[in-house]
Formats: sequence, C-alpha cells, structure tokens
Amino acid sequence: MNPIKSVAILFSFASTLLASCPLFADGRPYTVKANNKVDSDTFIGYKVYRTWCARCHGTFGQGLAASDLTKTLKTTDRDEFFTVVARGKKGRIGVMPAWQSNDSVMKNRDRIYSYLRARADGALGAVTPELID
Ligand code: HEC
Repeated sequence: MNPIKSVAILFSFASTLLASCPLFADGRPYTVKANNKVDSDTFIGYKVYRTWCARCHGTFGQGLAASDLTKTLKTTDRDEFFTVVARGKKGRIGVMPAWQSNDSVMKNRDRIYSYLRARADGALGAVTPELID
C-alpha cells in the first residue's frame, strides 16, 4: 500500500477512536447515547439555551435570525465562546447581546457550551434531548 494512504488510514482510525472516547479529544464535554439521551449538564445546557438563545439561534442551534451555531462552533473554542457570551458581539448579520448580567446564562455557560458542542460535533442532531436514565 502507498505509505501516504496508510498514514491517512491510520490517522482516520485514531481520530475515530478519539471521537468515541469522552476522555480524549479536547475533553469532550458531553455524553450522548441512543441519539438523544444526554448527561445532566448537557440537558440543563439545552434548557438554558432554549430559554435565552433559541429565539435568535434556532430551537436546536441551527440558526434563525442569528447564526447557525452548529457551524460557527466548529471554529469557536471554549474560551472564545465564553467571551462572546459574556460580552456580546457585533456580527455581520446583527448584534449578539452581552449576557454578563444574566446569572442564569453566566452560571450555565459551560453547560450551554456542552449542548452546542454536541450539536456542532454531530453527536446530537436537531432532536429534543432527554436525560440518560
Ligand atoms: C437577540 C438575538 C440573539 C440572542 C438572544 C442570542 N444571540 Fe448569539 N448572536 C446573535 C448575533 C446577531 C450574532 C452575530 C452573528 C454574526 O453576524 O456573525 C451572534 C453570535 C453568537 C456567537 C458567536 C459565533 C457566531 O455565530 O457569530 C455565539 C457563540 C453566540 N451568539 C451564542 C449565543 C448564546 C449562547 C446565546 C444565549 C445565551 C445567544 N447567542 C443569544 C444574536 C443573538
């Protein structure tokens, strides 16, 4: 086999392994089972997201009046996400409000991130999440 091809295969095998393991790959912050069963942090993240963010970014983050977060989160890391949520952002299509005086959002930023990360990674589809029982 051509060496470049075998390296590529090895690499894709390694990334599949990492992607399926919650402890690796930049500390994947969620657990998803059976399509829509999630851990409690991700579940709370979804609830808070629905309350404060969905009216602009869509029920499942897919975009509405504001951007599709399942796409932008592919290139937004956790720190950047935290900063944008706290301070807001003037984007191309409008203005993202700052949330730093909203306790419910601020204390759940990690959880909202878990939910949106699961969506952006494709681990969770545009489905209503349920708690893992
Ligand atoms: C009033 C509408 C509105 C609400 C509510 C809102 N956003 Fe936004 N958000 C925006 C706009 C507009 C942008 C900028 C999009 C652009 O033009 O790039 C944005 C951008 C972002 C970005 C930066 C990535 C990107 O796509 O530009 C993140 C992350 C984000 N929002 C998360 C959230 C979260 C989390 C919440 C809930 C706590 C939330 N937003 C609530 C309007 C909103």
